[in-house]
Order: sequence, then structure tokens, then C-alpha cells
Amino acid sequence: MAVMNAPAAVAGGKPAVELVGVDALSLSRVRNLNTVLFPVRYTGSFYKSLLLPEQFARLAFYNGACVGTITCRKQPLGFADSPTAPHTGYGAPPAVDFEMYMMTLGVLAPYRRLGIAQGLLDSAVEAAAADQTVRRIVLHVQIDNDDALRFYHRRGFTTLRMVERYYKALEPPHAYLLQYRLR
Ligand SMILES: CC(C)(COP(=O)(O)OP(=O)(O)OC[C@H]1O[C@@H](n2cnc3c(N)ncnc32)[C@H](O)[C@@H]1OP(=O)(O)O)[C@@H](O)C(=O)NCCC(=O)NCCS
Repeated sequence: MAVMNAPAAVAGGKPAVELVGVDALSLSRVRNLNTVLFPVRYTGSFYKSLLLPEQFARLAFYNGACVGTITCRKQPLGFADSPTAPHTGYGAPPAVDFEMYMMTLGVLAPYRRLGIAQGLLDSAVEAAAADQTVRRIVLHVQIDNDDALRFYHRRGFTTLRMVERYYKALEPPHAYLLQYRLR
């Protein structure tokens, strides 16, 4: 598969990284990447929801090969801490403050340590910061994912707490909840 090839230098110039939005035609690219990158299997409704206006999804291309992805959703502030709390659930008054929840961020192994995840993260931070109602970015990371934890901690994310048995079908099942405060 072309995307699994090792990164090649571009003759006469720097390799080009391009970030593009996701549309109905490119949803299958996100699905293909997620299948390789994450142990979690995402549903059809997850992919369809990426096309909703308040979602944020990007694909990263390296010299034309599709090698990375980020997906985020906008949700009421506090939802990641307690999704069943009355103030965030159905029937609650409309939220005025929000958080951007990062569902996935991943880059194919041969293309890591090239700054591609940094570019994807920057694009999400920029979008979140431009929305005055978004207070923070949050995500869960499996507790043994040292690469990801180091990546986020070095970029200003802090660990809020461990969530026991967050992943039903993974080992270890526990996650850290991380946040990056915007305002
Ligand atoms: C975590 C992950 C997304 C990082 O992706 P990445 O593209 O390698 O990230 P970057 O290249 O932007 O940065 C990684 C490191 O490479 C370094 N780097 C970037 N460009 C570099 C270069 N040209 N030369 C050397 N090092 C470089 C960065 O400084 C960074 O180091 P640091 O974290 O110690 O500061 C990746 O490991 C991954 O996809 N993991 C699997 C999926 C996953 O677990 N995702 C997280 C949970 S959602």
C-alpha cells in the first residue's frame, strides 16, 4: 500500500506536508488510517458525524501520501469529566461554554517524528482558539501510551486524572484525561 512506504525526499526541495479538510469522498481515508492507527473500532455514525459543521477533522498528506489524521468534536464544557451530569445531558439548558474533545490524532509509523502530528494539533488548537465559546481541548489517552503522553505533555497539556476502565475492550483499560486550557 502506497501510504506505508517510508518517507521519500523530494528532489530539489523540502518534503511538502499538506493538511486538508474531510468531506464525504475522503471519509474512507480517515477510516483506513484509523484502522491502522488505533485499537478502537469506530462506527459508521462516528465517520458520518465528522461531516457535521461543528466537528473538526483534517487529513495530513506527506508528498501526496495520506499519512495522518485528527478528529475533534465540540461538546458542552465538562462533558469529558462527567458525560452523565445533568448540566451536560439531554434536556439541559443550552450550553454557553464548550470544550473541543479530541477523538483521534495519529500518524502512520514511518512518517512519525517529522512534525506532522504537531501540524495537525496546531490546526485544531487554532480552530478552537478562534471560537470564543471553546474554553479548553480535552482528550483521553491510554495509560501505557508513552509516546502520546510525552507528545501532549511537552505541548502544554496537563493530566487531570486517571479514568478507570475507560476502554471496555483494551488492555490496560484505563485512560488519563488530559486538557489544554485556551481561556
Ligand atoms: C503521538 C503521535 C500522534 C505523534 O506523531 P508524530 O507525527 O510523530 O509527532 P511529531 O513529529 O509532531 O512530534 C513527535 C516528536 O518528534 C519530534 N520531531 C518533529 N520533527 C522532527 C524532526 N524533523 N527531526 C527530529 N525530531 C522531530 C518532535 O519534537 C516530537 O518530539 P517530542 O514529543 O519529544 O517533543 C504518534 O506517535 C502516533 O500516531 N501514535 C499512534 C496513535 C496515538 O496513539 N495517538 C494518540 C492518542 S489519540
